[in-house]
Formats: sequence, C-alpha cells, structure tokens
Amino acid sequence: GGEVIMPLVYLLLSLLLITYKMPLLQPPPAKYGGRHTVTLIPGDGIGPELLNHVREVFRFSCVPVDFEVVHVNSAVETEDDINNAITAIRRNGVALKGNIETKHTMAPSVKSRNNLLRTSLDLYANVMHCQSLPGVQTRHKNIDIMIIRENTEGEYSSLEHESVSGVVESLKIITRNNSLRIADYAFKLAREKGRRRVTAVHKANIMKLGDGLFLQCCREVASGYPDITFDSMIVDNTTMQLVSKPQQFDVMVMPNLYGNVVSNVCAGLVGGPGLVPGANYGHVYAVFETATRNTGKSIANRNIANPTAMLLASCMMLDHLKLYDHASSIRNAILNTMNETRLHTADIGGQGTTSEVVQTIMRFIQSKGQLTSEY
Ligand SMILES: *[C@@H]1O[C@H](CO)[C@@H](O)[C@H](O)[C@H]1NC(C)=O
Ligand SMILES: *[C@@H]1O[C@H](CO)[C@@H](O)[C@H](O)[C@H]1NC(C)=O
Ligand SMILES: *[C@@H]1O[C@H](CO)[C@@H](O)[C@H](O)[C@H]1NC(C)=O
Repeated sequence: GGEVIMPLVYLLLSLLLITYKMPLLQPPPAKYGGRHTVTLIPGDGIGPELLNHVREVFRFSCVPVDFEVVHVNSAVETEDDINNAITAIRRNGVALKGNIETKHTMAPSVKSRNNLLRTSLDLYANVMHCQSLPGVQTRHKNIDIMIIRENTEGEYSSLEHESVSGVVESLKIITRNNSLRIADYAFKLAREKGRRRVTAVHKANIMKLGDGLFLQCCREVASGYPDITFDSMIVDNTTMQLVSKPQQFDVMVMPNLYGNVVSNVCAGLVGGPGLVPGANYGHVYAVFETATRNTGKSIANRNIANPTAMLLASCMMLDHLKLYDHASSIRNAILNTMNETRLHTADIGGQGTTSEVVQTIMRFIQSKGQLTSEY
C-alpha cells in the first residue's frame, strides 16, 4: 500500500503549497490582446469631468488602455462601494482616480475611503514630482523636487479614543519595517532618476522614539547608497526653507502627515493643486491621482478646473504600464499647452476653460509638439 500512499501524500502536499502560495504571487497585469485594463474611479467634485477628459485624450491618441469604471458613493456609510473598487484594482493592478470626499460628520470609526484604499492595497509609497512648469508665473523658479511620503501608517492609523472624557489620544504608528521600506524606495528611486541627495524630514527632537526610529531607518538605508548624499531636516525648518529657497531640495522622504503638509506646500510653490500629479505605489498595485487629493467641489461642472494635474497623473500611469511613447507625447503636449499663457485656467490667473486646454493639448499631440522635457 505504501507505493500508492506516498505519491498521494506528495500530491496533496504540493496542492496545499500551491494554494497557500497563490496570494503571494504577483497577479499578472490585466492585459488582453495587447491592451491594458485600468480601474477608473471618478470620485467626487471635479474628478468625473477630469477623468472624462483623460479618456478623451487617450481615445484621441489611440492609447491601448481600456477603463473599467467603478463608482464610489461617498454619501453612504457602508464600505461596499470601496470594497468593490479595491477588488477591481486587485484584478487590474492599476487605477486612476478622482478624490473621494470624506464627510467629517461621520463616526470617527468610519475611515476615509481614500485611506482605506491605500492601506488595503498596501500602497506604501506616495510619490510626487514638483517641478516648475513653463509659462506658469511663480515666486520661485527652477524647482525640481521629488517627495516620497510613507502612505500607510504614522498619524493616519485611525486609532483614536477618548477613554477619559475631554482627553483624546491619537496614536501615531511608526514601524521599523515600514520605515525601512519607504527609505529604500526613496533611495532606489533617487538612484534610478540620477538624483544626488535624499533629505529625511522628521521631528525627532520632540518625538524621540517614533520619528527617531524613522530617522534611524533612513540612516541605515542610506549607508547602502554611498553614491547618494543623505541629510535630514526638522519639519518646521523644512517648511521655512521650502518657501524661502526651494531649489536646495532634491529627493525628500518623510512620514505620512509631514508628507501631506510638505507636498501641499510644494504644490503651491509650482502653481497650485491643479498642476501636480501624484502616484501611490505598492509592491503589487499602483494608483494614480492628483497630488494634493482635493475634490474641488466648488468648481465642479463649470468647465473651469485645471485638467493638468489629472492628465499628468495619467502620464505617470502610462509610464507605469511601460507605454512610454504615449506618455511622453501627451506630456509634451500638456507642457506646450501650459506655455500658452492665454489658455491658463482661473487657478493660475487666466480665463481659459477646461475644454479649451484639452482641445489644445490634442492639437499639440496631433502636430507632435516640439518641446521635450523629462517631467
Ligand atoms: C518585519 O519584517 C520581517 C522580514 O520581512 C518579518 O520577519 C517581521 O515579522 C516583520 N516585523 C513586523 C513587526 O511586522
Ligand atoms: C535649517 O536648514 C538650513 C538649511 O539646511 C540650515 O542651514 C539651518 O541651520 C537649519 N536651521 C535650523 C534651526 O535647524
Ligand atoms: C514658451 O514660450 C516662449 C515664448 O512664446 C518661448 O520663448 C519658450 O521657448 C517656450 N518654452 C518652452 C519650454 O516651450
């Protein structure tokens, strides 16, 4: 009987191993017949109209991407919608999204949909490239900063309680593992992009343990990248240095909340929320959106929103899908259009409409605009 039993045992064991290992394997990107499928979450405010413009530009440029649209209703308390969206991203691997409104009137236990999406998919690195754009009037010129923000822990743990009335405790979580992986992400990216310096932003003079650990992890990772200079700066000095001499920064890495504040300061420096794209990367999934994550509710459906940030986010997505030619053709058209000052939308001091900007971008795509810039 032993000759029959042993192979059976092996078969069962290997089956078990395969089933166990399944979720650990990276799912193949959703690609059918040479086309990619990407989850599209319109979100609230100006999200839906901006994403319609992205689709229009993609159609016009014959980009081989099909969108699977998933709506998330921010008005309901149940998490069914966002769970559907998360499932769709797990299937497709990649998403482009508008921001989903977070109602402050909801119970503290109701997590922001945007945050839930990032933590569920373990999108641990938020990446924002802040660069001065041609034709945009700003106080400072020649800004070129990459901000790498830890995206899953820190102050965004949603762990708050009021055990004693009038005393609220909010937990900020800093872990060694997540600090090491975000630091490593920053240094890897710096090397890949040919950058020279990484600055860790912290408040370790006050949060000696939490931020101290973050800083220590950055130092450890830095020792493995002798070709890149490492330094650190306290967050308050960082914001002051940014508004007085932003050109001194190259790549910056920081915990979640400082990342939120610093990236908004940087977006303001190069012209505002309408201009800067953002990306959230994990080991498996990637989600692209505008960097400052606002809904722009007050200017929704008026054809005045600046489509630049969302279109540039779609270009970051095309790079991620390795559709480099499409990405650079659309990006160059956007930059050429930005340089046409008369087309500027109201947020950057003009009177142009969203659709005029998008039409011009498509004309530049058609005429293969000459401007080339490594955005
Ligand atoms: C940190 O990562 C290591 C290696 O991946 C793992 O063995 C360990 O359990 C992790 N620690 C925590 C606290 O998650
Ligand atoms: C702030 O940063 C600048 C530039 O790195 C540095 O020269 C200065 O000493 C810092 N100031 C403080 C108070 O840390
Ligand atoms: C922007 O336009 C100005 C004048 O129209 C031109 O001189 C300049 O080269 C353009 N810049 C870029 C980056 O295209």
